[in-house]
Amino acid sequence: MIWTQSPTANQTVRTCIVACNGFECDTTLITIFPPLPVDTTATGTPCDPAVVYFEKDVLPILTANCAYSGCHNAATAKDGIVLDNYANVIRTGKIKEGNPNKSELYEVITETDLKDIMPPPPSPKLSNEQIQTIAKWITQGAKNEKCDENPGGCMTDNISYANYVRPALAACTTCHKTGNAGGNINLDSYAGVKSAAESGRLYGAISWANGYKAMPQGGSQIPDCTINKIKSWIDAGSPNN
Ligand code: HEC
Repeated sequence: MIWTQSPTANQTVRTCIVACNGFECDTTLITIFPPLPVDTTATGTPCDPAVVYFEKDVLPILTANCAYSGCHNAATAKDGIVLDNYANVIRTGKIKEGNPNKSELYEVITETDLKDIMPPPPSPKLSNEQIQTIAKWITQGAKNEKCDENPGGCMTDNISYANYVRPALAACTTCHKTGNAGGNINLDSYAGVKSAAESGRLYGAISWANGYKAMPQGGSQIPDCTINKIKSWIDAGSPNN
């Protein structure tokens, strides 16, 4: 007996071969895997500004506001909810793909009852922009698509504070702003970023160098290219450009 499972070009094919000789049967399951998916991060699919990408846009918001110790990181997992990576967000975030209003993750961040809102007070509510990012990601199907933020390679020349460094550090400001400046580092103003840059602490923290606290706290390291661009800006004298 030989059967195959609906083989199309990109599907895994399982073929079961049963060979019988008298009453002795031998079965062998052969699995033919499809070609590996094209790694869009390496081949330079540029980011589409109309698309919300999980790792680039959504995860930094969850890391900074939800997935830390005592709340929804893997170690604490309050109410079983873990928001530290795509698989866990999909597994525990009670998301209805395509429909934010039926998604628990969206409901709790837009909740008006202070008893139920997330993150709970005294943590501030997410900004409208952050809420819209999460809503749009769910509306677009809560996918885990990736894109190349630097098609054509990592260009590190003439990095602008306003256009590049500030937005790249936006997710850090939850824990590094006036009134809540972790480690006395304020990344919410040019002066604060410049001072962190000149002390060597900014680069030390994002490059996870020995002797510095690895940042973002509790999250995964920011992409190499982003680190290199920020370093190039620091090396240029941290200009307010
Ligand atoms: C969840 C909160 C949180 C997030 C998000 C976060 N930090 Fe921190 N950060 C802290 C805390 C708390 C400290 C102080 C840690 C300590 O002293 O033990 C700190 C320390 C630092 C330091 C000082 C490190 C040192 O060793 O002197 C720098 C620089 C820093 N953070 C930069 C960043 C940057 C850049 C990001 C974003 C990529 C970021 N942080 C994201 C909470 C956070």
